[in-house]
Amino acid sequence: MRLDYLTIFPDYFAPLELSLPGKAAAGGLVEFHVHDLRKWTHDRHRTVDDTPYGGGAGMVMKPEPFGEAFDALGIGADATVVFTTPSGEPFDQRLAAELSTRSRLVFACGRYEGIDQRVIEHARERAEVREISLGDYVLNGGEVAALAVTEAVVRLLPGFMGNAESLVEESHADGLLEYPVYTKPPSWRGHDVPDVLRSGDHARVAAWRHDHAVRRTVERRPDLLAPSVLDDGSPIVRAVPADAGELLTLQRACWVAEALENDSLDIPALHETLDDVRAWMTEWDTWVVRRADRLVGAVRGRLEGNAWDIGRIMVAPDLQGQGLGRVLLEHIQAVAPEQATSYLLFTGAASVRNHRMYKKAGFRMRPDLPAPAGAVMLTKGRR
Ligand SMILES: C[S@@+](CC[C@H](N)C(=O)[O-])C[C@H]1O[C@@H](n2cnc3c(N)ncnc32)[C@H](O)[C@@H]1O
Repeated sequence: MRLDYLTIFPDYFAPLELSLPGKAAAGGLVEFHVHDLRKWTHDRHRTVDDTPYGGGAGMVMKPEPFGEAFDALGIGADATVVFTTPSGEPFDQRLAAELSTRSRLVFACGRYEGIDQRVIEHARERAEVREISLGDYVLNGGEVAALAVTEAVVRLLPGFMGNAESLVEESHADGLLEYPVYTKPPSWRGHDVPDVLRSGDHARVAAWRHDHAVRRTVERRPDLLAPSVLDDGSPIVRAVPADAGELLTLQRACWVAEALENDSLDIPALHETLDDVRAWMTEWDTWVVRRADRLVGAVRGRLEGNAWDIGRIMVAPDLQGQGLGRVLLEHIQAVAPEQATSYLLFTGAASVRNHRMYKKAGFRMRPDLPAPAGAVMLTKGRR
């Protein structure tokens, strides 16, 4: 694999000569080519930036040096040009694996307020383009992000790791975070290595590791847990404040049907305002699903003591009856925190279709529990 870096700070890339990437380059597995973007400037000050059209603070990277660099480096269909930017797609292990299949990666490192948009449009006319974000924060420049992407990608190349087995076990390889790891001595400052890891019983060790990988993922990254993707590949993702308006609309649409079925307009979800929705979104763990940019489903959960209180399972009226509600229900159970020992929800006493879905999912009617007027409680134990 060949990797090119266009940067105004070539020195940032010195670490590529160290450790395993350095070894891979020496062994011919990868080629790193770092280019000073100022090489493609023609004025005395070697200027790469200019003031933004439309005004505003800061400077923008000019298009010409990038264009000349692309020409000089022969960037064509065999290359993937990576623009590191906080507004790009989030970088993750799946994307690292995808990029590791490419033969040439070209990193265009932004500085100042970013790169003139036309550079990205132009790059798209000659190569594959990926705009990639390292995370939801702002760095001073794209170099650190390019290094991080490089390291995650090249270590997946066959022959890079001394022991390829270590790739199989680590975090994100199977959608879970890695289990805790220990080395000698067996006891250190009052902390002991778990007995099972010293037992020599491989089956027990494997079970312990899987169990702790799942526990860690549930606690720290419940969003990683299945089932979080619908059959058509649409992910179920955590709601963000900007979803409030669409949630309000979906909620009204869904609870009109409830009102008709239960012959009552006295249903809180029907009367809530945008501010009410915004307020409960701060208190509940809320998940949404989109299809073709439209918010078509949602669900929320929160802990009440040891019970995971599930609510507001909503599916756009035109998509009801296709199993989306069932998947949302499975999802919200899967992301319940570890402390939850049971699930709890309520629905309209006359909402027969809901009763059927919840019963199928293992919930039991609980007329013995207090419920809002016209509603019935349902519970299920957590296995
Ligand atoms: C100061 S930042 C510019 C931020 C830009 N004004 C914005 O708000 O999106 C300068 C450069 O750092 C890089 N950068 C900053 N944060 C990044 C992140 N989270 N992921 C990837 N690159 C980042 C980009 O290359 C960006 O062009």
